[in-house]
Amino acid sequence: MGLASFKLRYGRTLVSFGPGSVESLASWLSRFKRVYVVAGRSAARVSGALDDVEKYLRASGVEYEVFSGVFPNPTASLVDSVAELIWRYGAEAVVAVGGGSTIDVAKIASVVVSCGGRARDYLSRSRDVCDALPLAAVNLTHGTGSEVDRYAVATIEETHEKVSIASEYIYPSLGIDDPRYLVTLPRVQTVYTSLDAFYHAIESSTSKASSPFTRSLAEEVVRLISRWLPVAVSNPADLEARYWLLYASLLAGIAVDNSRTHMIHALEHVLSGLEPRLAHGAGLAALGPSAIEFLYREVPEVLHRLLRYLDPSLRPDPEDSGKAAAAVRRFQAEVEFSESLLDYGFTADRVDEVVSITFKSLGYLLSLAPLEVGEDLVRRIYLNSLRRY
Ligand SMILES: [Fe+2]
Repeated sequence: MGLASFKLRYGRTLVSFGPGSVESLASWLSRFKRVYVVAGRSAARVSGALDDVEKYLRASGVEYEVFSGVFPNPTASLVDSVAELIWRYGAEAVVAVGGGSTIDVAKIASVVVSCGGRARDYLSRSRDVCDALPLAAVNLTHGTGSEVDRYAVATIEETHEKVSIASEYIYPSLGIDDPRYLVTLPRVQTVYTSLDAFYHAIESSTSKASSPFTRSLAEEVVRLISRWLPVAVSNPADLEARYWLLYASLLAGIAVDNSRTHMIHALEHVLSGLEPRLAHGAGLAALGPSAIEFLYREVPEVLHRLLRYLDPSLRPDPEDSGKAAAAVRRFQAEVEFSESLLDYGFTADRVDEVVSITFKSLGYLLSLAPLEVGEDLVRRIYLNSLRRY
C-alpha cells in the first residue's frame, strides 16, 4: 500500500500528513500577502524543509521574512523578540518550520502580535488569549504533537518556570507532517522526541481526563514506537520508520490534547526550566521509569495494554509494577538512551528546590494524575531517578 499521504481535520487544524505533504502550503499561502517564517537554528535548513517552504513562498508571490534563531527550551523573552519582528514586518500569518520549540514560539508570538501584551502575561495566565494570527506548522520532529494541539510551552526566565498555554485559539491552521524531513534528524533527537511521544501516551492514557478514545490512541502510539524506534535508531534514513514514528507522535498529540499529561511532564518541566540544557524527551525518559512504577500500581490494566508491547510477559497486576518499570528502562537502553539527571547537575541536595517549584507552578497538572501526588511522592520519583544505568 506504500506510505500513503492523507489529510485529517482535528480541532481547528487541517493536518497534511505523508511524503510530499508540504505541497499543502501552496494553497494555504494563497490567502495572504505577507507572512513571517519562524525557524529553528539548524534542522530547518538541514532537513530541506526551509528551502521547500521558501520555494512555495516565492512561487505564490507572497512577501516574507525569515527568523531562524529559535533555541531549545525557549524563553518568554525570545517569544517577545519574535513577536516584535512579526509585528514590525506587518505579517498577516506565520509559518513555523521546526520542532516543538519553534512551533511553540510561533504560537505564542502569534498571540502576542494579535492580542497585545507580552508572552509572560499569557504564560502566567494574567491575560486571556484571543484569536492568534493564522499559523502553518511544518513539523520537523516526531515527538511534540504541537502541530496538532492547543498547547505552547515556554520558560519565564526570572523564575525558571516552564509553563504552558492551553487555548483553542492557538491550534495551527495547517499542520504539516512530512516524514521526508525526518530522515536527517540526529540520532539523539530521534530518541528524545519519540520518547516524548511515548510519555504523551503513558500520561494521557492514565490521566483523570483519559477516555476510551485516548487510551486506544495511546496503545497504538506505544505499539508503533516499540516497533519502529529501534529501526530508526539503527537506520536513520529509513523512511518507513520515520513515517510511523511521525504518525505515532501525531496520535500522541491528539491524545494529550484531549486528556493532557500529568506528573512526569510536570516534574520534567521543573527540571528543564531549571536546567535548559536538559532536552524535554531526555528529562521525561530519566524520570519516566520511576514514575511508571507508581502509576502501574494504580492503573495496571491501562498501562498493561500499552506496555505489553515492550514486555509480553507483563500481567495487568499491581505486583508487576517493578517489572513494568524495568521493561521501560530496558526499552530505553535498547534505543541507546543512557543519560542520567546527574549529567545535568541534579543531585539529592536539590530535592527541596524541585519539590517546591513543582507544587508552586504545576499543581494543576499533578491533580490529573490517577493517584494523590503529595510532596513525598514527587520527592521519591526525583530521588529514584538520580541513577545511572
Ligand atoms: Fe511532551
